[in-house]
Amino acid sequence: MNDLSLRLTALRKEHKLTKKAMAEALGLSRQTVSNWEKGDIEPNIGVLAKIASYFGVSTDYLLGHETYTTHYEEKYRQEDFYWGKKINTLAYEMLKLMPPTRPLRLLDVGCGEGQAAVFFARNGYHVTAFDIAVSGLEKGRRLAQAAGVHINFYQADLLRHEPEGMFDVIYSTDVLEYVPAEHRRNVLCQWQEHTSVGGLNVLDVFVEKSFIATAPDWEHGKEFFWNTGELFSYYANKWQIELIREPIFDCDSAGIPHKHCMDMMIARRMA
Ligand SMILES: C[S@@+](CC[C@H](N)C(=O)[O-])C[C@H]1O[C@@H](n2cnc3c(N)ncnc32)[C@H](O)[C@@H]1O
Repeated sequence: MNDLSLRLTALRKEHKLTKKAMAEALGLSRQTVSNWEKGDIEPNIGVLAKIASYFGVSTDYLLGHETYTTHYEEKYRQEDFYWGKKINTLAYEMLKLMPPTRPLRLLDVGCGEGQAAVFFARNGYHVTAFDIAVSGLEKGRRLAQAAGVHINFYQADLLRHEPEGMFDVIYSTDVLEYVPAEHRRNVLCQWQEHTSVGGLNVLDVFVEKSFIATAPDWEHGKEFFWNTGELFSYYANKWQIELIREPIFDCDSAGIPHKHCMDMMIARRMA
């Protein structure tokens, strides 16, 4: 599998198409689509342009040449904090389960504008935090400075970056929807390997429900729903599940009221 085959597979699944349906839409055979996805053959330039136009993406995106960013890069440039300064309830649940009574290392993956990272640092954790959006990291650095705490902020793409060293907590909220299905096992295995025994993974994922409309600011082609229970299934062995929840809640992130359903989890590494 290469970038192109991964992106073709992800786009087809995102649009809920079978290989046959995608092939028919492009006037090709099912076997051709199957071979692309396995990486055995690649579409020629004419067909590539047709696929790009069909899915509303660029050919550079399909080929993996486009630098990957999310719409947050732009949103975080505004003065206000896009997400406000309210901290996710999972952060408080985590504090109860692992109060920093000794020096504890926490990694915040997809830290956005750094509110949670600063909250943890103020509560005594040694915090490392990364995100792909540089504008968010800059805001996080300013927030940390104003709060008088030190945080190691850096830019990285979680799909290509393995954390360095061991952490007592890996915390990532509202981020894993950016991980296409085929990367999930690999990403979570790496996070698990970088979690100390006794440490926690504190995570949530958006799950798809047929009775909930997709959010108006959902980034099609970049954000991917999870299935109910899928997140927990990666924590079946060696992990004790300390908290599981599946709330449905209101949101107005794009100025339009809508609902989300999330699977939330805190798991402790036991061995
Ligand atoms: C919905 S925001 C959540 C931010 C923060 N975790 C919070 O709860 O407020 C999603 C974040 O994931 C980041 N992100 C998306 N894809 C990423 C990737 N491949 N690598 C690193 N960060 C990514 C975005 O830039 C954005 O800051």
